[in-house]
Amino acid sequence: MFRSLKETLLISIVGAALLVPFTAIATEKYSFGKTATLEEIAGWDIDIRPDGKGLPNGKGSVEDGEVLYEQLCATCHGLFGEGEARWPVLAGGVGTLTEERPTKTVGSYWPYASTLYDYIRRAMPFTAPRSLTNEQTYQLTAYVLYLNELVDEDFVLTHENLSQVEMPNKDGFFVDPRPDVKNVRCMEACNDPSKMTIEGTLKGITPVGHFIEGADAPAASHEGQEDLEREKAHARKAALTGEDAKEAAGSETVKLSDKALAGKETFDNACKVCHGSGIAGSPKLGDIEAWAPRVKQGLSVLVEHAIKGFGGATGIMPPKGGRVDLSDMQVEEAVNYMVEASK
Ligand code: HEC
Ligand code: HEC
Repeated sequence: MFRSLKETLLISIVGAALLVPFTAIATEKYSFGKTATLEEIAGWDIDIRPDGKGLPNGKGSVEDGEVLYEQLCATCHGLFGEGEARWPVLAGGVGTLTEERPTKTVGSYWPYASTLYDYIRRAMPFTAPRSLTNEQTYQLTAYVLYLNELVDEDFVLTHENLSQVEMPNKDGFFVDPRPDVKNVRCMEACNDPSKMTIEGTLKGITPVGHFIEGADAPAASHEGQEDLEREKAHARKAALTGEDAKEAAGSETVKLSDKALAGKETFDNACKVCHGSGIAGSPKLGDIEAWAPRVKQGLSVLVEHAIKGFGGATGIMPPKGGRVDLSDMQVEEAVNYMVEASK
Protein backbone atom coordinates (compact mmCIF):
# COMPACT_ATOMS: atom_id res chain seq x y z
CA MET A 1 0.00 0.00 0.00
CA PHE A 2 2.82 2.31 0.89
CA ARG A 3 4.28 2.41 -2.54
CA SER A 4 1.06 2.61 -4.52
CA LEU A 5 -0.26 5.51 -2.46
CA LYS A 6 2.98 7.37 -2.93
CA GLU A 7 2.65 6.80 -6.66
CA THR A 8 -0.88 8.15 -6.65
CA LEU A 9 0.35 11.21 -4.85
CA LEU A 10 3.13 11.63 -7.34
CA ILE A 11 0.74 11.42 -10.25
CA SER A 12 -1.53 14.02 -8.68
CA ILE A 13 1.41 16.37 -8.14
CA VAL A 14 2.59 15.90 -11.72
CA GLY A 15 -1.00 16.45 -12.82
CA ALA A 16 -1.17 19.71 -10.93
CA ALA A 17 2.11 20.86 -12.42
CA LEU A 18 0.73 20.37 -15.93
CA LEU A 19 -2.35 22.34 -14.89
CA VAL A 20 -4.58 19.37 -15.67
CA PRO A 21 -7.01 18.97 -12.78
CA PHE A 22 -6.54 15.49 -11.35
CA THR A 23 -10.26 15.21 -10.56
CA ALA A 24 -11.07 15.64 -14.22
CA ILE A 25 -8.85 12.72 -15.21
CA ALA A 26 -10.31 10.49 -12.54
CA THR A 27 -13.97 11.15 -13.31
CA GLU A 28 -13.46 10.91 -17.04
CA LYS A 29 -11.84 7.53 -16.72
CA TYR A 30 -14.11 5.75 -14.25
CA SER A 31 -17.18 7.97 -13.90
CA PHE A 32 -17.74 7.04 -10.29
CA GLY A 33 -16.50 7.84 -6.80
CA LYS A 34 -14.59 10.94 -5.84
CA THR A 35 -10.92 11.73 -5.66
CA ALA A 36 -9.41 11.12 -2.25
CA THR A 37 -8.08 14.24 -0.57
CA LEU A 38 -4.52 14.31 0.70
CA GLU A 39 -5.95 14.25 4.20
CA GLU A 40 -7.98 11.13 3.50
CA ILE A 41 -4.99 9.39 1.96
CA ALA A 42 -2.89 10.30 5.00
CA GLY A 43 -5.50 8.63 7.21
CA TRP A 44 -5.01 5.30 5.42
CA ASP A 45 -1.32 5.61 4.69
CA ILE A 46 -0.11 4.47 8.10
CA ASP A 47 2.00 1.42 7.36
CA ILE A 48 5.53 1.34 8.64
CA ARG A 49 8.46 -0.31 6.97
CA PRO A 50 11.13 -2.31 8.80
CA ASP A 51 13.59 0.53 8.16
CA GLY A 52 11.29 2.90 10.07
CA LYS A 53 9.90 4.66 7.02
CA GLY A 54 6.34 5.79 7.71
CA LEU A 55 6.84 6.35 11.43
CA PRO A 56 5.43 9.62 12.74
CA ASN A 57 7.88 11.84 14.61
CA GLY A 58 7.75 11.21 18.30
CA LYS A 59 8.93 9.18 21.24
CA GLY A 60 7.74 7.24 24.27
CA SER A 61 9.39 5.69 27.32
CA VAL A 62 9.09 2.24 28.85
CA GLU A 63 8.18 3.97 32.11
CA ASP A 64 5.16 5.79 30.67
CA GLY A 65 4.25 2.67 28.72
CA GLU A 66 3.96 0.63 31.90
CA VAL A 67 1.22 2.87 33.33
CA LEU A 68 -0.71 2.89 30.09
CA TYR A 69 -0.30 -0.83 29.49
CA GLU A 70 -1.72 -1.66 32.89
CA GLN A 71 -4.74 0.55 32.20
CA LEU A 72 -5.47 -0.47 28.63
CA CYS A 73 -3.91 -3.81 27.85
CA ALA A 74 -3.29 -5.95 30.92
CA THR A 75 -6.90 -7.12 31.32
CA CYS A 76 -6.44 -9.19 28.20
CA HIS A 77 -2.70 -9.64 27.71
CA GLY A 78 -1.75 -10.04 31.38
CA LEU A 79 0.45 -7.82 33.55
CA PHE A 80 3.62 -9.39 32.14
CA GLY A 81 2.34 -10.14 28.67
CA GLU A 82 1.59 -13.71 29.72
CA GLY A 83 -1.99 -13.50 28.41
CA GLU A 84 -5.12 -13.74 30.56
CA ALA A 85 -7.28 -16.80 29.92
CA ARG A 86 -7.05 -17.39 26.19
CA TRP A 87 -6.07 -13.89 25.07
CA PRO A 88 -2.81 -13.71 23.11
CA VAL A 89 0.52 -13.98 24.91
CA LEU A 90 2.78 -11.03 24.08
CA ALA A 91 6.06 -11.97 25.73
CA GLY A 92 8.40 -14.92 26.11
CA GLY A 93 8.66 -18.10 24.08
CA VAL A 94 12.09 -17.31 22.62
CA GLY A 95 13.71 -20.54 21.42
CA THR A 96 10.44 -22.51 21.28
CA LEU A 97 9.83 -22.18 17.55
CA THR A 98 11.40 -25.53 16.75
CA GLU A 99 9.43 -27.32 19.45
CA GLU A 100 6.29 -29.26 18.76
CA ARG A 101 4.13 -26.57 20.39
CA PRO A 102 5.92 -23.28 19.80
CA THR A 103 4.95 -20.17 21.77
CA LYS A 104 4.71 -17.50 19.12
CA THR A 105 4.91 -14.01 20.56
CA VAL A 106 6.14 -10.59 19.52
CA GLY A 107 9.50 -11.52 21.07
CA SER A 108 9.86 -15.07 19.82
CA TYR A 109 8.34 -14.76 16.38
CA TRP A 110 8.10 -11.28 14.91
CA PRO A 111 11.05 -10.34 12.72
CA TYR A 112 10.74 -6.53 12.98
CA ALA A 113 9.92 -4.09 15.78
CA SER A 114 8.23 -1.81 13.24
CA THR A 115 5.37 -4.30 12.99
CA LEU A 116 4.70 -3.83 16.69
CA TYR A 117 4.24 -0.10 16.38
CA ASP A 118 2.13 -0.57 13.28
CA TYR A 119 -0.02 -3.29 14.86
CA ILE A 120 -0.72 -1.50 18.13
CA ARG A 121 -1.55 1.77 16.38
CA ARG A 122 -3.80 0.06 13.85
CA ALA A 123 -5.59 -2.56 15.93
CA MET A 124 -5.27 -2.15 19.72
CA PRO A 125 -6.84 -1.99 22.22
CA PHE A 126 -9.01 -4.67 20.68
CA THR A 127 -12.25 -2.91 21.59
CA ALA A 128 -11.15 0.57 20.44
CA PRO A 129 -8.71 0.36 17.53
CA ARG A 130 -7.10 3.61 16.34
CA SER A 131 -7.94 5.35 19.60
CA LEU A 132 -4.29 5.74 20.69
CA THR A 133 -2.19 8.81 20.00
CA ASN A 134 1.18 8.38 18.29
CA GLU A 135 2.97 9.15 21.58
CA GLN A 136 0.95 6.52 23.43
CA THR A 137 1.76 4.03 20.71
CA TYR A 138 5.50 4.73 21.18
CA GLN A 139 5.12 4.22 24.93
CA LEU A 140 3.22 0.94 24.56
CA THR A 141 5.58 -0.37 21.88
CA ALA A 142 8.52 0.42 24.16
CA TYR A 143 6.82 -1.38 27.03
CA VAL A 144 6.01 -4.54 25.05
CA LEU A 145 9.65 -4.61 23.88
CA TYR A 146 10.66 -4.28 27.52
CA LEU A 147 8.36 -7.16 28.53
CA ASN A 148 10.28 -9.21 25.99
CA GLU A 149 13.60 -8.15 27.53
CA LEU A 150 14.67 -6.51 24.29
CA VAL A 151 15.22 -3.03 25.81
CA ASP A 152 16.05 -1.74 29.32
CA GLU A 153 13.63 -0.15 31.75
CA ASP A 154 15.01 3.35 31.11
CA PHE A 155 14.72 3.01 27.33
CA VAL A 156 13.02 5.72 25.30
CA LEU A 157 11.75 4.63 21.90
CA THR A 158 11.82 7.19 19.08
CA HIS A 159 11.16 7.32 15.34
CA GLU A 160 14.91 7.24 14.91
CA ASN A 161 15.89 4.24 17.02
CA LEU A 162 12.95 1.90 16.42
CA SER A 163 14.48 0.30 13.32
CA GLN A 164 17.63 -0.47 15.32
CA VAL A 165 15.85 -2.73 17.78
CA GLU A 166 16.89 -6.25 16.82
CA MET A 167 14.27 -8.95 17.14
CA PRO A 168 15.47 -12.47 18.08
CA ASN A 169 13.73 -14.08 15.10
CA LYS A 170 14.89 -11.53 12.52
CA ASP A 171 16.60 -14.24 10.45
CA GLY A 172 13.82 -16.78 10.84
CA PHE A 173 11.98 -15.84 7.65
CA PHE A 174 13.22 -16.57 4.17
CA VAL A 175 11.93 -16.80 0.63
CA ASP A 176 10.93 -20.38 -0.05
CA PRO A 177 13.74 -21.73 -2.27
CA ARG A 178 12.05 -24.96 -3.33
CA PRO A 179 11.69 -25.08 -7.11
CA ASP A 180 8.15 -26.46 -6.96
CA VAL A 181 6.78 -23.31 -5.32
CA LYS A 182 7.52 -21.40 -8.51
CA ASN A 183 4.56 -22.37 -10.57
CA VAL A 184 5.60 -21.67 -14.11
CA ARG A 185 2.76 -22.58 -16.40
CA CYS A 186 3.63 -24.82 -19.30
CA MET A 187 2.17 -23.58 -22.58
CA GLU A 188 3.61 -26.05 -25.11
CA ALA A 189 5.26 -29.47 -25.32
CA CYS A 190 4.19 -30.16 -21.74
CA ASN A 191 4.43 -33.41 -19.80
CA ASP A 192 1.67 -35.94 -20.36
CA PRO A 193 -0.60 -35.81 -17.26
CA SER A 194 -1.40 -39.52 -17.55
CA LYS A 195 2.28 -40.32 -16.99
CA MET A 196 2.51 -38.25 -13.78
CA THR A 197 2.50 -39.98 -10.40
CA ILE A 198 2.20 -38.74 -6.83
CA GLU A 199 5.14 -39.82 -4.69
CA GLY A 200 3.65 -38.85 -1.34
CA THR A 201 0.54 -37.17 0.04
CA LEU A 202 -0.54 -35.60 3.31
CA LYS A 203 -4.03 -36.68 4.23
CA GLY A 204 -6.51 -33.81 4.06
CA ILE A 205 -3.86 -31.43 2.75
CA THR A 206 -2.60 -32.66 -0.60
CA PRO A 207 -5.29 -32.27 -3.26
CA VAL A 208 -5.50 -35.45 -5.30
CA GLY A 209 -9.01 -35.34 -6.76
CA HIS A 210 -7.78 -34.56 -10.26
CA PHE A 211 -5.50 -37.62 -10.26
CA ILE A 212 -8.29 -40.11 -9.71
CA GLU A 213 -9.22 -41.73 -12.96
CA GLY A 214 -12.55 -40.63 -14.33
CA ALA A 215 -13.06 -38.16 -11.48
CA ASP A 216 -14.34 -34.74 -12.36
CA ALA A 217 -13.02 -33.14 -9.19
CA PRO A 218 -11.81 -29.61 -8.64
CA ALA A 219 -8.07 -29.25 -8.12
CA ALA A 220 -8.36 -28.74 -4.36
CA SER A 221 -10.41 -31.88 -3.72
CA HIS A 222 -9.07 -34.50 -1.34
CA GLU A 223 -11.68 -36.96 -2.47
CA GLY A 224 -10.29 -40.27 -3.49
CA GLN A 225 -7.21 -39.77 -1.37
CA GLU A 226 -7.98 -42.88 0.63
CA ASP A 227 -8.50 -44.85 -2.57
CA LEU A 228 -5.24 -43.55 -3.90
CA GLU A 229 -3.38 -44.44 -0.73
CA ARG A 230 -4.97 -47.86 -0.54
CA GLU A 231 -4.15 -48.52 -4.16
CA LYS A 232 -0.56 -47.56 -3.61
CA ALA A 233 -0.31 -49.74 -0.50
CA HIS A 234 -1.70 -52.67 -2.41
CA ALA A 235 0.63 -52.08 -5.30
CA ARG A 236 3.53 -52.10 -2.85
CA LYS A 237 2.26 -55.24 -1.22
CA ALA A 238 1.74 -56.95 -4.55
CA ALA A 239 5.24 -56.02 -5.60
CA LEU A 240 6.65 -57.53 -2.41
CA THR A 241 4.73 -60.78 -2.33
CA GLY A 242 3.89 -61.20 -5.96
CA GLU A 243 0.25 -61.42 -4.94
CA ASP A 244 -2.44 -60.06 -7.14
CA ALA A 245 -3.14 -56.50 -5.91
CA LYS A 246 -6.87 -57.08 -6.15
CA GLU A 247 -6.75 -59.98 -3.76
CA ALA A 248 -4.81 -57.91 -1.25
CA ALA A 249 -7.46 -55.24 -1.47
CA GLY A 250 -10.16 -57.72 -0.52
CA SER A 251 -8.34 -59.06 2.53
CA GLU A 252 -7.54 -55.63 3.91
CA THR A 253 -11.02 -54.16 3.90
CA VAL A 254 -12.74 -54.25 7.30
CA LYS A 255 -16.38 -55.24 7.03
CA LEU A 256 -18.53 -52.92 9.13
CA SER A 257 -22.03 -53.67 10.42
CA ASP A 258 -24.87 -51.37 9.42
CA LYS A 259 -24.88 -49.84 12.89
CA ALA A 260 -21.18 -49.06 12.70
CA LEU A 261 -21.56 -47.59 9.22
CA ALA A 262 -24.31 -45.34 10.55
CA GLY A 263 -21.96 -44.17 13.31
CA LYS A 264 -19.14 -43.03 11.08
CA GLU A 265 -20.63 -39.60 10.49
CA THR A 266 -21.15 -38.98 14.22
CA PHE A 267 -17.61 -40.12 14.85
CA ASP A 268 -16.23 -37.74 12.23
CA ASN A 269 -18.20 -34.80 13.60
CA ALA A 270 -18.01 -35.34 17.34
CA CYS A 271 -15.37 -37.86 18.34
CA LYS A 272 -12.58 -37.61 15.80
CA VAL A 273 -11.11 -34.43 17.33
CA CYS A 274 -9.81 -36.61 20.15
CA HIS A 275 -10.08 -40.23 19.00
CA GLY A 276 -8.78 -39.54 15.50
CA SER A 277 -5.29 -38.86 16.82
CA GLY A 278 -5.53 -40.16 20.38
CA ILE A 279 -5.02 -36.83 22.11
CA ALA A 280 -5.72 -36.26 25.82
CA GLY A 281 -5.28 -39.97 26.56
CA SER A 282 -8.14 -41.14 24.34
CA PRO A 283 -7.86 -44.52 22.61
CA LYS A 284 -7.11 -43.85 18.96
CA LEU A 285 -9.35 -45.20 16.23
CA GLY A 286 -7.73 -48.26 14.71
CA ASP A 287 -5.30 -48.76 17.60
CA ILE A 288 -6.02 -52.42 18.30
CA GLU A 289 -3.88 -52.59 21.44
CA ALA A 290 -5.50 -49.55 23.03
CA TRP A 291 -8.99 -50.83 22.34
CA ALA A 292 -8.66 -54.53 23.20
CA PRO A 293 -8.84 -54.20 27.03
CA ARG A 294 -11.68 -51.69 26.73
CA VAL A 295 -13.69 -53.89 24.40
CA LYS A 296 -13.41 -56.71 26.96
CA GLN A 297 -15.68 -54.69 29.27
CA GLY A 298 -18.49 -55.36 26.83
CA LEU A 299 -20.15 -53.07 24.35
CA SER A 300 -22.90 -51.90 26.72
CA VAL A 301 -20.34 -50.60 29.24
CA LEU A 302 -18.50 -48.72 26.53
CA VAL A 303 -21.72 -47.18 25.30
CA GLU A 304 -22.65 -46.15 28.83
CA HIS A 305 -19.22 -44.59 29.37
CA ALA A 306 -19.52 -42.72 26.10
CA ILE A 307 -22.99 -41.38 26.94
CA LYS A 308 -22.48 -40.53 30.62
CA GLY A 309 -18.81 -39.66 30.47
CA PHE A 310 -15.95 -41.57 32.00
CA GLY A 311 -12.78 -40.82 33.91
CA GLY A 312 -10.35 -43.69 33.53
CA ALA A 313 -6.64 -44.30 33.92
CA THR A 314 -5.58 -42.31 30.88
CA GLY A 315 -7.84 -39.26 30.83
CA ILE A 316 -11.36 -37.91 30.86
CA MET A 317 -13.98 -38.79 28.31
CA PRO A 318 -16.63 -36.02 28.51
CA PRO A 319 -20.31 -37.09 28.30
CA LYS A 320 -21.09 -37.66 24.59
CA GLY A 321 -17.70 -36.16 23.82
CA GLY A 322 -19.05 -32.77 24.88
CA ARG A 323 -21.83 -32.94 22.28
CA VAL A 324 -24.95 -33.14 24.46
CA ASP A 325 -27.05 -32.48 21.35
CA LEU A 326 -26.36 -36.05 20.14
CA SER A 327 -28.99 -38.70 20.78
CA ASP A 328 -28.02 -41.80 22.78
CA MET A 329 -28.49 -43.83 19.61
CA GLN A 330 -26.04 -41.68 17.66
CA VAL A 331 -23.42 -42.16 20.36
CA GLU A 332 -24.07 -45.88 20.44
CA GLU A 333 -23.60 -46.10 16.69
CA ALA A 334 -20.36 -44.13 16.94
CA VAL A 335 -19.07 -46.53 19.62
CA ASN A 336 -19.91 -49.45 17.35
CA TYR A 337 -17.97 -47.81 14.57
CA MET A 338 -14.96 -47.16 16.80
CA VAL A 339 -14.90 -50.69 18.17
CA GLU A 340 -15.34 -52.40 14.80
CA ALA A 341 -12.76 -50.21 13.11
CA SER A 342 -10.25 -50.96 15.87
CA LYS A 343 -9.93 -54.73 15.78
C1 HEC B 1 -10.23 -6.92 24.98
C2 HEC B 1 -8.99 -7.62 24.95
C3 HEC B 1 -7.74 -6.89 24.45
C4 HEC B 1 -7.21 -5.72 24.92
C5 HEC B 1 -7.75 -4.82 26.01
C6 HEC B 1 -5.99 -5.51 24.17
N1 HEC B 1 -5.79 -6.52 23.28
FE1 HEC B 1 -4.16 -6.79 22.11
N2 HEC B 1 -5.02 -8.42 21.27
C7 HEC B 1 -6.27 -8.90 21.59
C8 HEC B 1 -6.62 -9.94 20.64
C9 HEC B 1 -7.90 -10.74 20.60
C10 HEC B 1 -5.55 -10.06 19.75
C11 HEC B 1 -5.42 -10.99 18.53
C12 HEC B 1 -6.14 -10.32 17.41
C13 HEC B 1 -6.08 -11.13 16.15
O1 HEC B 1 -5.26 -12.05 16.03
O2 HEC B 1 -6.85 -10.80 15.25
C14 HEC B 1 -4.55 -9.11 20.20
C15 HEC B 1 -3.30 -8.99 19.61
C16 HEC B 1 -2.33 -8.12 20.06
C17 HEC B 1 -0.97 -8.10 19.58
C18 HEC B 1 -0.39 -9.05 18.54
C19 HEC B 1 -0.03 -10.36 19.20
C20 HEC B 1 0.46 -11.41 18.22
O3 HEC B 1 1.46 -12.08 18.53
O4 HEC B 1 -0.15 -11.59 17.15
C21 HEC B 1 -0.33 -7.08 20.22
C22 HEC B 1 1.12 -6.66 20.06
C23 HEC B 1 -1.29 -6.46 21.12
N3 HEC B 1 -2.49 -7.13 21.00
C24 HEC B 1 -1.04 -5.38 21.93
C25 HEC B 1 -2.00 -4.77 22.73
C26 HEC B 1 -1.78 -3.54 23.45
C27 HEC B 1 -0.49 -2.76 23.48
C28 HEC B 1 -2.95 -3.27 24.12
C29 HEC B 1 -3.28 -2.05 24.97
C30 HEC B 1 -3.30 -0.80 24.27
C31 HEC B 1 -3.89 -4.33 23.81
N4 HEC B 1 -3.28 -5.21 22.95
C32 HEC B 1 -5.16 -4.41 24.34
C33 HEC B 1 -7.06 -8.50 22.64
C34 HEC B 1 -6.85 -7.38 23.40
C1 HEC C 1 -12.34 -34.19 24.31
C2 HEC C 1 -11.82 -35.46 23.85
C3 HEC C 1 -12.82 -36.58 23.57
C4 HEC C 1 -13.90 -36.56 22.71
C5 HEC C 1 -14.40 -35.38 21.87
C6 HEC C 1 -14.46 -37.87 22.74
N1 HEC C 1 -13.75 -38.66 23.59
FE1 HEC C 1 -14.14 -40.64 24.02
N2 HEC C 1 -12.55 -40.67 25.29
C7 HEC C 1 -11.73 -39.61 25.58
C8 HEC C 1 -10.73 -40.04 26.53
C9 HEC C 1 -9.60 -39.17 27.09
C10 HEC C 1 -10.96 -41.40 26.80
C11 HEC C 1 -10.16 -42.31 27.72
C12 HEC C 1 -10.61 -42.20 29.16
C13 HEC C 1 -9.82 -43.15 30.02
O1 HEC C 1 -9.89 -44.35 29.79
O2 HEC C 1 -9.09 -42.66 30.90
C14 HEC C 1 -12.11 -41.75 26.00
C15 HEC C 1 -12.67 -43.02 26.00
C16 HEC C 1 -13.74 -43.39 25.23
C17 HEC C 1 -14.28 -44.73 25.19
C18 HEC C 1 -13.78 -45.91 25.96
C19 HEC C 1 -14.43 -45.96 27.32
C20 HEC C 1 -13.90 -47.08 28.17
O3 HEC C 1 -14.67 -47.55 29.04
O4 HEC C 1 -12.76 -47.50 28.00
C21 HEC C 1 -15.34 -44.71 24.32
C22 HEC C 1 -16.22 -45.86 23.93
C23 HEC C 1 -15.44 -43.35 23.81
N3 HEC C 1 -14.47 -42.60 24.38
C24 HEC C 1 -16.38 -42.95 22.89
C25 HEC C 1 -16.47 -41.65 22.40
C26 HEC C 1 -17.48 -41.24 21.46
C27 HEC C 1 -18.56 -42.11 20.87
C28 HEC C 1 -17.24 -39.93 21.20
C29 HEC C 1 -18.02 -39.00 20.27
C30 HEC C 1 -19.44 -38.95 20.46
C31 HEC C 1 -16.10 -39.52 21.98
N4 HEC C 1 -15.66 -40.61 22.70
C32 HEC C 1 -15.56 -38.24 22.00
C33 HEC C 1 -11.79 -38.34 25.04
C34 HEC C 1 -12.75 -37.91 24.12
